[in-house]
Amino acid sequence: MKQLELLYEGKAKQVYATDDSERIIVRFKDTATAYNNLKKAVIANKGLLNNDISAMLYRHLEAAGICTHFIEKLNERDQLCRRVSIIPIEVIVRNIVAGTMAQRLGMEEGTRPSNTIIDLCYKRDDLGDPLINDDHAVALGLVTYGELKGIYATTRRINEALTALFDRVGITLVDFKIEYGRTSGGGIILADELSPDTCRLWDKQTGEKLDKDRFRRDLGKIIEAYGEIDRRLKRLEEEF
Ligand code: TMP
Repeated sequence: MKQLELLYEGKAKQVYATDDSERIIVRFKDTATAYNNLKKAVIANKGLLNNDISAMLYRHLEAAGICTHFIEKLNERDQLCRRVSIIPIEVIVRNIVAGTMAQRLGMEEGTRPSNTIIDLCYKRDDLGDPLINDDHAVALGLVTYGELKGIYATTRRINEALTALFDRVGITLVDFKIEYGRTSGGGIILADELSPDTCRLWDKQTGEKLDKDRFRRDLGKIIEAYGEIDRRLKRLEEEF
C-alpha cells in the first residue's frame, strides 16, 4: 500500500490517498482543539494513543457485526481505512447527562436519564455545528428518512457494544460522537475516530474523567488519562 497525496487535514487527523482508490490512510495528529477551535494545544503522543484506542474499539465493533471503515492499524500513527464520503452530521449518543446537554437544559452533570438520547448536529464550523433534528437533516439533503432509520438502529447497537466493553474495564461510557460515511457503492458505514477525544469516559470507582474534558476544563494529566484507557482496553484484548 503506497501513501499518496494529502486529501484532507482536520483538527486532529490527516487523510491521505493511497494507490488503491477505495482505501485511505488516516494519520492521527497530536493536536487538540476545543470550543470550536478557540482552545488549541499540541499534546505529545496523543495521536499515538488515539490511533491505538480507536483501532481496538473498531476491531471490537467489527467483531460485533457493525460495518465500519476500519481495515487495519498500519503503524503507531496511521491506520488504513475504506474511503467514504463523510455525511456532515455528528451523531451524539448520551447515556448520562454531561457537557452541552447539561448546560443547554439546566440539568446536573452526572444525571442518568431513563432513556438514551441521540442528538444530531450539522457539521458546519462556520455555524458552530448547530443541533438539528431529522427533518432538518432531510431538508438539508444530507440523508433520507430511511437512511436515518438505519443510522439510529446502528448507533444504538454501537452504544450497546461499547457500553458493555467499557463496563468490563471499569469505565462508564457517558457519551460519544460518531460519524457515518457513504461508500462508493452507496452503503452507509461507521467512519471517523472513536477515542477519548470523541467520548466521555469516567472511571466507575473514582468518577475520574479519562477523556478530552481534561483538556477542555484544564484538569491536567491528559496523556495519563488516555494512557489509562489504552492500557485497560489492551489488557482486555490480550485476554482473547
Ligand atoms: P457535547 O457535550 O460537547 O455536546 O459533546 C458530547 C460528546 O460528543 C462528547 O463525548 C464529545 C463528543 N463530541 C465530539 O467528539 N465532537 C464534537 O464536535 C462534539 C460537539 C461533541
